[in-house]
Amino acid sequence: MDRILILVFAAALVTTVAAQDPEIVDEIWPEVKPVGRTARLNCTVANKLSHVVTYEHMDTNQIISLDNSIDLSYNPIEGGKRKYEVQTRGPESRITYMLIIRRLRQQDAGRYRCYVKIQALASTKWPSKIGSLTVQVAPSIRPGETTTVLVVDPFSNSNLTCSATGIPAPNITWTRSDGFKLPTGGPQFRVSRTCSLSTMSCDMGMLLLVNNNNNNNNIKLPAEHLAEVLVFHPPTVRVVQDSVGQAQNRRFWAKLECITQGYPAPTVRWERIVNGGRSPINDDDKFDFNKQTTDNQNLKAGEEWYTLKVKNVQANDYTDYFCIATNTKGSSQSTITMFETTECQGPNCPSLPSSKATEVKVSLLAMAITTLVPYVVIASDRR
Ligand SMILES: *[C@@H]1O[C@H](CO)[C@@H](O)[C@H](O)[C@H]1NC(C)=O
Ligand SMILES: *[C@@H]1O[C@H](CO)[C@@H](O)[C@H](O)[C@H]1NC(C)=O
Ligand SMILES: *[C@@H]1O[C@H](CO)[C@@H](O)[C@H](O)[C@H]1NC(C)=O
Repeated sequence: MDRILILVFAAALVTTVAAQDPEIVDEIWPEVKPVGRTARLNCTVANKLSHVVTYEHMDTNQIISLDNSIDLSYNPIEGGKRKYEVQTRGPESRITYMLIIRRLRQQDAGRYRCYVKIQALASTKWPSKIGSLTVQVAPSIRPGETTTVLVVDPFSNSNLTCSATGIPAPNITWTRSDGFKLPTGGPQFRVSRTCSLSTMSCDMGMLLLVNNNNNNNNIKLPAEHLAEVLVFHPPTVRVVQDSVGQAQNRRFWAKLECITQGYPAPTVRWERIVNGGRSPINDDDKFDFNKQTTDNQNLKAGEEWYTLKVKNVQANDYTDYFCIATNTKGSSQSTITMFETTECQGPNCPSLPSSKATEVKVSLLAMAITTLVPYVVIASDRR
């Protein structure tokens, strides 16, 4: 009988102690949110009774809340809501204390401890759980540690460098804006945080560096940076059309076009054949030359488009023209031939009346042929 009584008493003691001791029943799940958004940490306490549930920011050693009340002097209102707030939900036996932190700043990140203060126990014995808050920061490229323009000799070895910050640490991807392969061989080169890219045997071009922080949909667009690689090289010249036709003596003009590339940027001059020799062309009443600044979408990096307008085309304009590009590394040229046509060519021709004129011309030409041919035949018959 005594034994049973003791057992019953002991059992009752165990259950009452268990019922009275508060306990944090779940983990505090880590929260990850971008700057400016709202974070919610959940601490669920069973058997809370009259004990106090406290949130503490461990990195600053600041007590944030005691039960539902915020214990910070800094708790501004913005847009009708406090920065810090604690909301509770659930039944008495199992209450979730949700710490809400609004308008996240970088310094809000860190470890938060939720604990239940039990007067009768030493603080080391208080139920306690730690949760982490990560405040994501959109990637940005450090300008001082990132190449903007790199000028190199051909086949020399140099590094393009880049450095980026962001939380979590962003990955960096190098690509070429013109779609060509990188010196590393592929179309993309991905690295973490900082990187350098050798430009050995690199063509001149633009390298686009994308600083991609793409493992979270909430985060803003990746940061981008354009690094330009300029490789010293002699000019190249290509023509838009290697021959250009125009009718003479009717105040029509002809347009000759060439596209140059080179670094340093070449200067361009035009020459043409006059009396079997080369003669320079000057920008004057007869010729107009220009560097085209619009409509350049078809040009590759570093290319420039030059035009030479030959005004009021005359018989002696039907000859070869040279577009000559020169820089400190050398010189190059391309040839455009101008030939005679019977009709006006190009966009600036007079429109309607010319179709009638064509008909008249064609029939005249047909007459000429029919009148000529019989003579020829006869002449051969007589032989
Ligand atoms: C905390 O609970 C709220 C409400 O259920 C939820 O929206 C939030 O995501 C939770 N926080 C975490 C870190 O799980
Ligand atoms: C480029 O970077 C590599 C690796 O960091 C280094 O060994 C090399 O000396 C650098 N080259 C130049 C030209 O700076
Ligand atoms: C960076 O790349 C690694 C490996 O692909 C990936 O595990 C990580 O999530 C990436 N980080 C970011 C911020 O995208």
